[in-house]
Amino acid sequence: MAKRIQFARTGGPEVLEYVDVTPAAPGPGEVRVRNEAVGLNFIDIYFRTGLYPVASLPSGLGTEGAGVVDAVGESVSSLAVGDRVAYAQGPLGAYAELHTLSAEKVVRLPEGIDCETAAAAMLKGLTVQYLLRQTYALQGGETILWHAAAGGVGSIACQWAKALGVKLIGTVSSPEKAALAEKNGAWATIDYTQEDVAERVRELTNGAMCDVVYDSVGKDTWETSLDCLKKRGLMVSFGNASGPVEGVNLGILNQKGSLYVTRPSLAGYADTRERFEAMADDLFAMLESGKVQVDIAQRYPLKDAAAAQEALANRRTTGSTILIP
Ligand SMILES: NC(=O)c1ccc[n+]([C@@H]2O[C@H](COP(=O)([O-])OP(=O)(O)OC[C@H]3O[C@@H](n4cnc5c(N)ncnc54)[C@H](OP(=O)(O)O)[C@@H]3O)[C@@H](O)[C@H]2O)c1
Repeated sequence: MAKRIQFARTGGPEVLEYVDVTPAAPGPGEVRVRNEAVGLNFIDIYFRTGLYPVASLPSGLGTEGAGVVDAVGESVSSLAVGDRVAYAQGPLGAYAELHTLSAEKVVRLPEGIDCETAAAAMLKGLTVQYLLRQTYALQGGETILWHAAAGGVGSIACQWAKALGVKLIGTVSSPEKAALAEKNGAWATIDYTQEDVAERVRELTNGAMCDVVYDSVGKDTWETSLDCLKKRGLMVSFGNASGPVEGVNLGILNQKGSLYVTRPSLAGYADTRERFEAMADDLFAMLESGKVQVDIAQRYPLKDAAAAQEALANRRTTGSTILIP
C-alpha cells in the first residue's frame, strides 16, 4: 500500500482525503516514480473545485513531482530503476508517495539539481520558459507587465526576465511581496490592490506602455491588462486565480489598439517529446547557471495538502510550495 491524496467530489479543501491505495504497476511505456517532493500549483485548485473537469472520481491530484524511478514497464529503454527524475505533465495523481505515468513525460535530472528544487521548478519553470521564449520571443530591451510577481510562476519569471535584459513590472498585493519581486529582479512593482495599474505603467514607461502583459489573475485584471499594452501589443492570458475571463467582446481589442491576445497552456507547448526535452534543457541550464534560483518558501507534509492549497488560494504563499510524502 502507499499513501496518496484523492477527492471523491469537487469542492473546498475539505474534499481532499489522505488514503491508502495499491499503487498501479507501470504498463507498457510507463514508469513508476517514488516521489521525494511534489509541486503545488494553482491548477490543482482548479481541478479540486471543478473549474477544470477530471476524467473520473475519485481522482488523484497534482501533475508535478520529482523522485526516483521505482519500476519500469515494458518497452521503456530511456529510464531505469534508480534514475533521479522529474515531471510536470501527465495524469492527475502526483500528490502521492508513488506515481505512475508515461516515460515520455519524465526527464532525468542533472546531478546538480536536487529533487526538491525540481519539484518546485518543473511546471512553473517550463511555463516561464514557453511564455518568455516562445509565446513572445523576448530579445531584451522590452518592457512587460507580470501579474502576481511574487508567486510561484512569478518569482521565476522575475529572475528569467532580468537575465534576458527585459524590464519586468510586477504587480503584487503587499509591500512584502513587492520587496520579494524586486529582490528577484523585477524592474518595478505596483500594488494592484492600492494603485491604478495602467496609470502607474504609463508613468514608469513615460507613456510607452508594455510590449506584452502576462496575466494569470484572469477575471479581476483582464481589462486593466489591456490598458497597459502599447498598440499592437500582446495580451497573454494564462490563468484564472481570481476566476476565468468570460464573455469577451472581440471589438475591445480594436478599441484598445489593435491588440493581440492568446490563451496558452504548458500542454500546448510541451506537446512532443522533442519540445518537452528542449524546454527542460533550457530550464535546467537556467537553474544550473544560478540565473534562476527557486525559492521554496513553503514545505508541507503530503497529508496536509488541503492546508497548503488553502494558503495558496488565500494569497498567503510566496515563491514555490512543495509537499513532502
Ligand atoms: N497556462 C499555463 O500554462 C499555466 C501554467 C502554470 C501556472 N499557470 C497559472 O499561473 C498562475 C500562478 O500559478 P502559481 O501556482 O505560481 O500560483 P501563485 O502565483 O503562487 O499564486 C497565485 C497568486 O495570484 C494572486 N492573486 C490575485 N488575485 C487572486 C485571487 N482572487 N485569489 C488568489 N490569488 C490571487 C496572488 O498574488 P498577490 O497576493 O500578489 O495578488 C496569489 O499569490 C495561476 O493562475 C496558474 O493557473 C498557468
